[in-house]
Amino acid sequence: MIDIHYHLIPNMDDGPDTIECALEMVKISYDQGVRTIVATPHLNHPAEFRGHMANDKDMLQEFEKLRTYIQTTYPDMELYLGAEVYLSKQDLSQLEQVEMRTMNKTRYVLVEFRRDIPFEEMDKGLQGLIALGYQPILAHAEVYNCFTSDMEGLLNLREQGVLIQCSAGNIIDIRQKPEKTRAKEMLRHGLVDIIASNGHNLITNKPDMTKAYTYVTKKYGAEEAKRLFEVNPKIMLADQVVPQAIRQIKPSQPINKKWIYVATIIALAILTRCTS
Ligand SMILES: [Fe+2]
Repeated sequence: MIDIHYHLIPNMDDGPDTIECALEMVKISYDQGVRTIVATPHLNHPAEFRGHMANDKDMLQEFEKLRTYIQTTYPDMELYLGAEVYLSKQDLSQLEQVEMRTMNKTRYVLVEFRRDIPFEEMDKGLQGLIALGYQPILAHAEVYNCFTSDMEGLLNLREQGVLIQCSAGNIIDIRQKPEKTRAKEMLRHGLVDIIASNGHNLITNKPDMTKAYTYVTKKYGAEEAKRLFEVNPKIMLADQVVPQAIRQIKPSQPINKKWIYVATIIALAILTRCTS
C-alpha cells in the first residue's frame, strides 16, 4: 500500500509529539503493508499548531532524520515529502502568492479547505490551481458539508482532473458520522481515486489502512482496493495521469421528501377505494 496523506513529521503541525511516536506510527504502517509514505505536513493553515509549520529548515531536518531511520530499519520502504496545502477564502483571489509544496515534486498538490466551504468557492480554488499548472488532490473529500446534497459537484471536479482522496478512518468509523456516510456514498458511486490514512498520532487519528482496505475488498473486490490504495497513488507519484474509475455512476438527485409524502397519500387513497 501507499499512504499519501500522513502527518508524520514530529513537532511540526498537529502530527506526532515526539520522534518515538512517529517511529511507532511508521511501524504500524509497515506492519499493515504500507511500503511508501508521503509525509504531508500542513502548509498555509490558519491554525498555529506548534508554530514550526512554516519553518522549512526545521521541517526538512526532521524529515531527513525520519527518512534515514526508515532507510536503515525498513530498506523496502520509501518516504517522500509533500504537504497538505490549506486554501482560505482570501487565498483564492491571490493563489499565485500561496506557498505550495507538491507531492514529491510532481505536479500534484494535496489541498484542503474549511469544512463548511460552499461548493462554488472550492471549485474556484481548484480551478485556480489547475490554471497555475497544478493537479489538485482534494484531501479528505468526505468532510465537506457541500457534498451532502450535491454529490454531483464531485463529478464536475473529477471531469476537470481533480483527484478525490478519502480517509481510511472515516470509511470504517464505528460512529455514524456524516463523514462516514459521504465517504461510503462516494465509494459506491466510484468517485474516489485514492484512500489514505490522514494519520496524525497513535490515539485519535492512527495511520490505520487495513480495516478500510478489507472493507473495500469485501464490498467492491480486490482490484478496486488495489486501485485505491496502491495503483492510483503510484501513478500519481510517477507524475502520470490517473485514469478515472470504470464504474463511475452519476449520483441520483436526492429524493424530495414532499413527493414521498404525496405518493403515500395517493397510494393510500387508491387502496381505500379498492377495499371499500
Ligand atoms: Fe491532513
